Amino acid sequence: MPRPASSASTGAFPRTIGATRLLQAFPRSGSSMDKLVIRGGTPLLGSVRVSGAKNAALPAMAAALLTEEDVILENIPQVRDIETERKLLAAMGAEVELGYGRAQHRTTISCSHLAKPEASYDLVKTMRASTLVLGPLVARMGHARVSLPGGCAIGARPIDLHIKGLEKLGAKITQEHGYIEARADRLKGARVVFEKITVTGTEDLLMAATLAEGETVLENCAREPEVSDLAALLNKMGARIEGAGTHTIRVHGVTKLHGARHRIIPDRIEAGTFIIAAALTGGDLMISGCDPSHLGALIEKLQECGVSLRTNGESVRVMSDAPLKAADITTEEFPGFPTDMQAQFMTLATQAEGASIITENIFENRFMHAQELVRMGANIKIDGRRAVVRGKTALSGAAVLASDLRASASLVLAALVADGETIIDRVYHIDRGYERIEEKLKGVGAQIRRIGELLPRRSPVPVSAI
Ligand code: EPU
Repeated sequence: MPRPASSASTGAFPRTIGATRLLQAFPRSGSSMDKLVIRGGTPLLGSVRVSGAKNAALPAMAAALLTEEDVILENIPQVRDIETERKLLAAMGAEVELGYGRAQHRTTISCSHLAKPEASYDLVKTMRASTLVLGPLVARMGHARVSLPGGCAIGARPIDLHIKGLEKLGAKITQEHGYIEARADRLKGARVVFEKITVTGTEDLLMAATLAEGETVLENCAREPEVSDLAALLNKMGARIEGAGTHTIRVHGVTKLHGARHRIIPDRIEAGTFIIAAALTGGDLMISGCDPSHLGALIEKLQECGVSLRTNGESVRVMSDAPLKAADITTEEFPGFPTDMQAQFMTLATQAEGASIITENIFENRFMHAQELVRMGANIKIDGRRAVVRGKTALSGAAVLASDLRASASLVLAALVADGETIIDRVYHIDRGYERIEEKLKGVGAQIRRIGELLPRRSPVPVSAI
């Protein structure tokens, strides 16, 4: 589908003061009524470019709250969650320019005048990562009011570790009417040991600690590349952070942060999804603009399955027409096998010879895609946190329902190898984290199209926020 003409496509990013300037923020796609129609059986051939990482861009945008100067972020993915974060920051009084051009996707955020340090339920319920504003707001403004996120499609996802950590830094936290309220004159450095490894918890505390008085030591931190990317941005803003990417991060608090320009890392989960798409369809696909060093556990596992891959600086080439072999995975924190690739791997396992055991260690309810895959012909048995997938089974096209972001990706993958036509409903889930998925897949030979009604954007919001 041709993208609407816009000044954004010229690469120009005009500035507005006192308002949110939105340049082609989210094109027509993405109505809650949209469906993807996919006809399977075509090998993917050619080259596809990976977008910036949603899960790195979201904390980076929240980090702009820590300074009154402009923060310029490049390689921002054109996905719905970024649009939600834009709304979140704008509702607080931030000026957010968001532009998607042919050359680059960029946002400039100015938080010089923050009127209302609040994240409302309306936004938090659609995107749990909204809670990332808690730390920066209390650190800079001395006050934050953030809605509790509520239920989630992939299991209980409390934010108790964010709260305990901020209390350690001296914030007074109360909870009322579904909101967390945090107050502190100035946060004070402390030692925080996370009881459990948490990605956004580490990021929230990292941001808060940058403006705390004295030294903060964060232990048992998440080591995900998105945490390291955030630390790199914060250091460019004048923070003094050491050890990001390890379990122990030291932050020497400063009194003020300044503006910076930063390029967001590539999306390793989008890259991994394309790698599996190529492996499944027996294609020859170059996945460019990615960082293979972030994909180690996945690449190793796929090689065990018999997939032929070649990495080269910023790309991965998948040349795969050999039969796939079963393999077991257990999801773990980085550098282990990512939970965000578990659903996609399950689809691959349906096409591998033998039994694959998939153990989900991070979230308690992240097998919702299994039942939809079974409807397409897969043989999957779930027992608590373990799924046993017996392959190879022929998949046949069916009408299926996407239940969350990565579950929808697994259904797209299944549809690419299924016999006949698959219609995937609730495509808004995939639009949260995959940029123009149908255009990218069509560009490498997939038979995929989006159908939907041109409904007003104010569509019912899914209860399951990821
Ligand atoms: N946890 C707690 N208490 C907390 C925080 C987390 O018990 O205060 C638990 C969670 O319930 C879960 C585990 O710790 O069992 C790990 O959760 P984590 O906090 O690491 O998840 P997250 O930060 O909410 C991020 C990604 C997710 C990704 C997970 C795990 C972002 C915006 N989200 O979530 O991405 O699955 O880390 O890697 O970075 C996705 O992109 O599809 C997605 C869900």
